[in-house]
Amino acid sequence: MTSPHRASDTPFAVNVELGKDYFWCACGQSKSQPFCDGSHKGSSFTPIQYSADASKEVYFCGCKASNNKPLCDGTHKNPV
Ligand code: FES
Ligand code: FES
Repeated sequence: MTSPHRASDTPFAVNVELGKDYFWCACGQSKSQPFCDGSHKGSSFTPIQYSADASKEVYFCGCKASNNKPLCDGTHKNPV
């Protein structure tokens, strides 16, 4: 499987709303990071759904290498 595109070196802080679903871009090609805009079509990637269990600020992974997708787990600090 090919690696995702590293869309950002840092996470995206987003204010999510309780009960809403968000679709995180796993391929890194979306123009509206950190969310999917359909650019993955034709690749092996599909977006990952995030269902907000509270209204709060969360950090979505921008480097696309997190081991806790779709959220940032600090992996972006590792050298590439
Ligand atoms: Fe990246 Fe859809 S655009 S997963
Ligand atoms: Fe990907 Fe932090 S931005 S792990």
